[in-house]
Amino acid sequence: MTAPRFTVACDGPAAAGKGTICRAVAAHFGFAHLDTGLLYRAVGAKTLSGMTPIEAAETLTAQDLTADGLRSAAVAEAASRAASLPQVRAALLAFQHEFAAQPGGAILDGRDIGTVICPGADVKLFITASAKVRAERRLQELLAEGADTDFATVLADVTARDKRDSERAVAPMRAAADAVLIDTSCLGIDQAVQAAIDAIAGKLA
Ligand code: CDP
Repeated sequence: MTAPRFTVACDGPAAAGKGTICRAVAAHFGFAHLDTGLLYRAVGAKTLSGMTPIEAAETLTAQDLTADGLRSAAVAEAASRAASLPQVRAALLAFQHEFAAQPGGAILDGRDIGTVICPGADVKLFITASAKVRAERRLQELLAEGADTDFATVLADVTARDKRDSERAVAPMRAAADAVLIDTSCLGIDQAVQAAIDAIAGKLA
């Protein structure tokens, strides 16, 4: 059940469940999925190796997106810092636009997809959850990957990153006026995925 050039924009704060929901939605409808956070994380990782953020963004390759350690807290922090620079965001624009316009439908998740990258998206979702729930989920992910961290550290990291992401001058994180809000604080994965599928199915029909 796909439509040509059908675009879904999915935004929200750190660890709200966007990735899990978008992967499931993409599989359900046959859409291509782009985790745009990975672009910024790859840029952030390159800055940790000594490159300037702008150079890192302008020289980004597909291989950079498969580098080790992109899910770490240090890379997330570096990504958020680099993401506040207009030149970094501009360097990543064309790739995201091309991805969104591909035949067969696409879902992109990030912070500014519904507001800046794809303001004309067919469906906009804003996935959120309480800071404590998001920090607990991220803690479990990081521990599973072998990180040495604790709840208080992860909560502080996630909260500081959300503050920077939502207060920056360029493309701040916010829900588009026409976004469907899905609060996953009290939803299981299946329920959250179903809420997203329902929002999209209504527009595809
Ligand atoms: O996985 P998580 O939700 O923690 O973060 P992510 O989606 O991988 O994004 C990492 C960082 O990249 C965010 O904190 C933002 O600063 C930045 N980002 C952005 O500015 N715009 C996007 N469209 C996606 C990510």
